Amino acid sequence: MGSARDDQVFFSLPEIWDLCLDKIYNKSKYIEGLIHILTSYGIDKKSLILDAGCGSGFPALDLVERGYHVTAADKSSEMVRQIGLNAKLRGLGIEARHATWSELERFFDKEQFDLVYCRGNSLVYAASWEQNWIVPARSQEEIQTALRNFYSVLKRGGVLYVDVINKKEKPHEEDIGTVNTKHGPVRMTWRIEHDQIHKIRSWTMQLVFLNSGEVRTYPSYSYLLSNEELAQLLKDVGFSKIKSGVKVKGETNYDVFIARK
Ligand SMILES: C[S@@+](CC[C@H](N)C(=O)[O-])C[C@H]1O[C@@H](n2cnc3c(N)ncnc32)[C@H](O)[C@@H]1O
Repeated sequence: MGSARDDQVFFSLPEIWDLCLDKIYNKSKYIEGLIHILTSYGIDKKSLILDAGCGSGFPALDLVERGYHVTAADKSSEMVRQIGLNAKLRGLGIEARHATWSELERFFDKEQFDLVYCRGNSLVYAASWEQNWIVPARSQEEIQTALRNFYSVLKRGGVLYVDVINKKEKPHEEDIGTVNTKHGPVRMTWRIEHDQIHKIRSWTMQLVFLNSGEVRTYPSYSYLLSNEELAQLLKDVGFSKIKSGVKVKGETNYDVFIARK
């Protein structure tokens, strides 16, 4: 059996998401904005925080670096690996569990956390991340289950921070910019499509490797969750004081909701 050629360039989805984050966020501005809003909800360095859907570690590692107690969980073993690699690179320690949102009640105690946050437009991928297919009804069911689990592991009075697709988003193509990678410069573009009938959003990343001209595309599908539907789901699960359109400095991509248990 031949071995994989290393003159060909491939990226994992966690690596691509990491590259995107550097382009679509002013990270230090967002961390400042996030800490500001969390502080206004009484979250401090003594609070127990769960990053539900931690991905590659933004902003969990930044919070840990600043002395916050963050536990991370993600259903993707590749993402759990990536947060571990990123933590090591930065000389940080973080407990990162390989767990889906539907399993949080099993992995953690009831009423354990002061804050659960689920950000980076993660919730809509509840049953479709790293898959090349989606069943919208199944996604909707998994989103409800996720919210029930967030509720369960939060203390009474605890805070949920969750974001969702910007309500003004229209289908479009966008040039994210060129990044320098270990494989040379890569131009990144994405295409967003909305299927309003079946409630599916597709996000297709395209990478053009400028040295070789190679092109790779990475499609992802998610549930097209509206602000109104999210507000209703939060209410149904039992959350109160649900606030939509929360302004967080540095968050220019997604709409933020904050609610209390
Ligand atoms: C777009 S990434 C965002 C990652 C990170 N929160 C950020 O802000 O950069 C979505 C993440 O949600 C995770 N995710 C999706 N569905 C999940 C589920 N059902 N349970 C746990 N994690 C999930 C994915 O594995 C992925 O790491």
